[in-house]
Amino acid sequence: MCGIFGVVSDLPLVDVLLKGLKRLEYRGYDSAGVALEGAHGLFLERTVGRIESLRSALEEASRGIFQDASIGIAHSRWATHGAVTEANAHPQSDGETALVHNGIFENHTELRAFFPQKKWESETDTETLIPFISEKIRQRRAFLTAVRESLDMVRGGYALLIINKNFPQQLIVAKNGNPVTVGRGKGAFSKSFFVSSDCAAMAPWIGEKADLEDGELCLIQKGPTESKCSFFDSRGVPLAKDWEPFVFADNDCDETDDFALKEIHEQPGLIKERIAAFDQGAFANWGARLAAKDALNFVGCGTSFYAGLVGAYWFEKWARLSTHAEIASEFRYRCPVLPPKSLYVFLSQSGETLDTLKALEYATKHAVETAVMTNVLHSTMAKKAKDLLPLHAGPEMSVISTKAFTAQLAVTACLLLETLAVQGSAHRSALEADFRNVPALLRTVLSNGDAMNAAAEVLATASAVIFLGRGLCYPIALEGALKLKETSYLFAEGYPTGEMKHGPIALMDASVVSVVLAPFDDLFEKTLSNTQEIMARGGRVLFLTDTQGQEKIQKQLCEAMAAGTVKIFLVPPTGELSKAFVYGVAAAQIVSYKTAKLKGRNVDRPRNLAKAVTVE
Ligand code: F6R
Repeated sequence: MCGIFGVVSDLPLVDVLLKGLKRLEYRGYDSAGVALEGAHGLFLERTVGRIESLRSALEEASRGIFQDASIGIAHSRWATHGAVTEANAHPQSDGETALVHNGIFENHTELRAFFPQKKWESETDTETLIPFISEKIRQRRAFLTAVRESLDMVRGGYALLIINKNFPQQLIVAKNGNPVTVGRGKGAFSKSFFVSSDCAAMAPWIGEKADLEDGELCLIQKGPTESKCSFFDSRGVPLAKDWEPFVFADNDCDETDDFALKEIHEQPGLIKERIAAFDQGAFANWGARLAAKDALNFVGCGTSFYAGLVGAYWFEKWARLSTHAEIASEFRYRCPVLPPKSLYVFLSQSGETLDTLKALEYATKHAVETAVMTNVLHSTMAKKAKDLLPLHAGPEMSVISTKAFTAQLAVTACLLLETLAVQGSAHRSALEADFRNVPALLRTVLSNGDAMNAAAEVLATASAVIFLGRGLCYPIALEGALKLKETSYLFAEGYPTGEMKHGPIALMDASVVSVVLAPFDDLFEKTLSNTQEIMARGGRVLFLTDTQGQEKIQKQLCEAMAAGTVKIFLVPPTGELSKAFVYGVAAAQIVSYKTAKLKGRNVDRPRNLAKAVTVE
């Protein structure tokens, strides 16, 4: 989960190191640290909190002496082993070896037992590798050999950057399971090398990149004029690697602090672009392929899973194709039977979510057809994909997933329309017209600021919030509850409206608000009846509905409306495809964003979260 970043340079590197780390902060941001090698030896600084705290601490502690550092490694942490403390922050070091780690050494308890006398300084799994390396160096092993032999002891995943004060001109990179990329500098930095768990973090400084594969190592050596970078396999045999040109569409990620709102507002434009890609035939090959399948499956985590669930509702209803959506962390361990004539689509904004990646590996091993729908085209999943469905949503910087969700819906809608075309479906043209209307509908939703503020005011006073939806609105209710809990830290639950009476209704009292997603469709009347059951128990209700729904509600619930226990948040009338987009943006994103802001939360960096979840 954590972000790691390293620089070997003939130029002052501390500022670059901190800027790179800031670009990686989305991976985890509970604590951060750097280790620097230079003429003054090995220097370490770590702080709890964001990169800004690290920058101040570093400026104060180093008093500028490390302006001459030629190698630096840095880390932004999402705690796994050990609480959020300075001692548990990375780099971990024994004063000789310092390293930063993304991943988990699963056998850390066994590793500790090799050094029964040692006084450990942290509770981390990471620290347990260090004495092996330092001991081998004391036994006069070369640095690379010491690292390689020590890694033989480890079980688990890692991307590691390691320095040692006896080898002040060397940085070692090692990979197993967790991604790491080496970048070659460009422009003023043409003699520098960069390393990171996400090449987007190195984007401003690199022109070429080389990804490490599992078991590989890299040694970057600072020379008097030029630095040198060599790659090795797990036995230490040199490897020839090709450098690929690196091009990256940046998203100005250094300075802004409210990406969530910016990204929410990008959605109408992004969906328009997907519709244009659809018109140019970008999905044309998929129709016949999907129409020939016996089953379709979507697999993902969190918001990506909910997008898959919407896809499952769409495909079953309109293409009459047996379709399921499943949570990746469950999929893999329940040993599913994968029918041969099926397609498994793995959804992941980041393309790095470990549960989804492992589920993809499981499906690949069982020889079914797979495809990866992702936003990050240089990600591990994109590289492993047999077929790629790019989201083209642009970098999603806020930790909460918004535009990637609607891009997933848009790509899925394109797949559905292509399938319906091959099937000669009578529903296709109406669905297509509705899909084309999505950008305009979202613009209407996004311009409705005052109504959204009023809705947020209702939620901000609740002790708990239950999002309710029937049919297609059920996955949106799940997404709404996820968005609200992660942004505002309110307890929130998503439920199928019809299921309320089977238990959750016991929770109802005046402190609980139910957000009822109620488009005026064939399920509206049933939704309204279920809502009355809630109100009869004193629960407060916030309806999201269209004008026809509003009319009915006003007629039937006029007393509750007058008493203020029922409120309506109006959204435009929707069709069968646009419904998921409109209610997804309104109920899940906007309402959550506004509520979180009212509560003074940091929407881009909610507590305890990270953007790419690279642990199981
Ligand atoms: C919610 C959120 C998470 C992610 C989940 C999967 O706002 O961001 O629930 O959707 O961690 O991440 P990806 O899509 O990168 O696999």
